[in-house]
Amino acid sequence: MKIKVRKIKEQDYEVVGKIHNKAFSCIGQTKESFQDSFTSHTTWVAVSGNKVIGYIQSKNKKTTVYCTWFAVDKKFRQCGAGKRLLRALMRHTKKTKAKKIQLETRNRFKPAIYFYLQNDFDIIGTRVGLDSDTMILLEYQFKK
Ligand SMILES: CC(C)(COP(=O)(O)OP(=O)(O)OC[C@H]1O[C@@H](n2cnc3c(N)ncnc32)[C@H](O)[C@@H]1OP(=O)(O)O)[C@@H](O)C(=O)NCCC(=O)NCCS
Repeated sequence: MKIKVRKIKEQDYEVVGKIHNKAFSCIGQTKESFQDSFTSHTTWVAVSGNKVIGYIQSKNKKTTVYCTWFAVDKKFRQCGAGKRLLRALMRHTKKTKAKKIQLETRNRFKPAIYFYLQNDFDIIGTRVGLDSDTMILLEYQFKK
């Protein structure tokens, strides 16, 4: 499957909102709650043909880039879209002053944990979230 990654456009907001909602409704996320982040954060989308199949979103803070949300449409998982999106975020991070990417995921999101470990992230901490889920803090350090 041929997958391209590009910055989000306004016309993608609806479909990205739907992917977000489907992936994260289990933790109370809705597509409406996500819409504001398109202007305050940096978002890339993965596209196959003309179809947007996933997104990754981040926010820069001095020496750290935080990956805030990341999901691929269920039908298109394990086809390499996630890896391409993460590479786009890494390329972007390399151009900034940031030396690391951090993110938080949940113990219940097992494929994501495998994915991050496979992509050289380290687990650097855990905490109990407000909803009692175990949150896992992961970090990728650039060697520069
Ligand atoms: C995490 C996620 C974005 C990965 O996207 P993806 O497009 O499936 O990722 P890729 O196809 O690039 O996967 C690459 C690697 O991740 C790992 N991986 C992905 N899904 C996996 C699964 N279900 N079980 C085990 N390993 C998995 C594998 O190591 C895989 O490499 P391989 O194909 O060589 O075995 C996707 O699983 C997803 O959307 N999950 C739901 C939302 C989520 O949990 N987001 C992260 C929250 S912070």
